[in-house]
Amino acid sequence: MILVPCAVLEHAEEDPNRYASSIWPGIQNLLLTARATGLGAVPTTYALRYRDEVDAVLGVPAGVAVQAIIPVGYPMGNFGPVTRRPAAEITMFDRWDGAPPAAVATPPPPVPPAAEATGPRPFI
Ligand SMILES: Cc1cc2nc3c(=O)[nH]c(=O)nc-3n(C[C@H](O)[C@H](O)[C@H](O)COP(=O)(O)O)c2cc1C
Repeated sequence: MILVPCAVLEHAEEDPNRYASSIWPGIQNLLLTARATGLGAVPTTYALRYRDEVDAVLGVPAGVAVQAIIPVGYPMGNFGPVTRRPAAEITMFDRWDGAPPAAVATPPPPVPPAAEATGPRPFI
């Protein structure tokens, strides 16, 4: 299945970019729900470089903007934990080059890997 979340642009002339901030929290909830139910889901946006073609294929009307294209399905391979850089490494304070206060500069110890599941896939 491919999910295509869209924004209805009621005031697009003001700032069309701000509509994304309404959609992506919902997309994040969708990704978490997919994960929790054993489904793999991958947000993609590269195809939106060809927005006109995407709109034509899907019949998207004027005033509606596709925000993402999200394939969803049952994974055939690895469904384990994903790798992410520590938050402390990618968080700036006060300004772009701001170093974190000492209290948050040291990341917490890593969470031990979950035991191998035997029943339904766990929420990771
Ligand atoms: C906003 C956004 C757009 C993305 N667009 C694409 C895309 O167009 N094509 C693609 O292969 N991956 C895209 N990705 C990356 C994948 O969604 C995914 O994060 C990546 O394959 C790494 O997998 P992981 O999140 O399970 O670690 C995008 C990610 C985000 C957050």
